[in-house]
Amino acid sequence: MPDAQTESIPEMTEVEQIMVSRFANRFYLNREVELEVITAILHTARHAGTGANVQPWKVYVTTGAAKATLTDAIIAAHKQPGQPSSEYSYFPDPLPEPYASRRREFGSIFYGSLGIAHDDVASRAAQTERNCRFFDAPVGLVFTIDRRLEKGSWLDLGMFIQNIMLAAKSRGLDTCTQEFLARYHAVFRSCLPLATEELVVCGMAMGFGDPQWARRRPQMPKASIEEFASLHGF
Ligand SMILES: Cc1cc2nc3c(=O)[nH]c(=O)nc-3n(C[C@H](O)[C@H](O)[C@H](O)COP(=O)(O)O)c2cc1C
Repeated sequence: MPDAQTESIPEMTEVEQIMVSRFANRFYLNREVELEVITAILHTARHAGTGANVQPWKVYVTTGAAKATLTDAIIAAHKQPGQPSSEYSYFPDPLPEPYASRRREFGSIFYGSLGIAHDDVASRAAQTERNCRFFDAPVGLVFTIDRRLEKGSWLDLGMFIQNIMLAAKSRGLDTCTQEFLARYHAVFRSCLPLATEELVVCGMAMGFGDPQWARRRPQMPKASIEEFASLHGF
């Protein structure tokens, strides 16, 4: 269900419809995704634009026993006292406005939709732990980038990741990108053939979304175009 500003678009193209119907899904069916579908998504996503065509991305795609081994190791690491740190900083501390307010709003909408109160630390922790299992999606992806590269190449990786999400959506698959998993880079390194120069940027859950959740899920509010765009000469 798109918001009012999206509904005001006169005629949405098929690509635009896919873009607005994508959302971060954290609830999946236990239904496997065929290899041909995964390879089609990867074939498509590699057409992402990239500065000077350097194509700096790497992605590890796991399912079945390989995913189970990986998630068992992540959960074991997650249960250890003291949490490891990601090899990069996703947000500054403190997060400036308006971003801090948006993050708070996300938390209250998301946990509210699950009936989890703000002070219910145990339920929040249980929901957070579901990240470790790629939210029980049948496919878990891990994205890495060569640590010798600069911010520009991270832009390229973001475009590749977005292409994966949209290609997946166009095939009826949902996704949830997961920076949370970056902290378990040592686990990924032990379970997957990462080269020393590879830095774990994020994970991603992928699979067929639970239709019941899709019906009652909250829509994350999106800033109106007036808040971020400035149009001139029209
Ligand atoms: C790079 C990136 C990292 C994210 N990391 C996480 C994460 O670790 N855990 C999680 O539950 N959601 C994660 N998300 C999902 C966001 O919370 C979600 O995209 C955001 O709230 C907007 O909601 P929407 O995608 O449904 O529009 C991530 C999204 C992106 C793009």
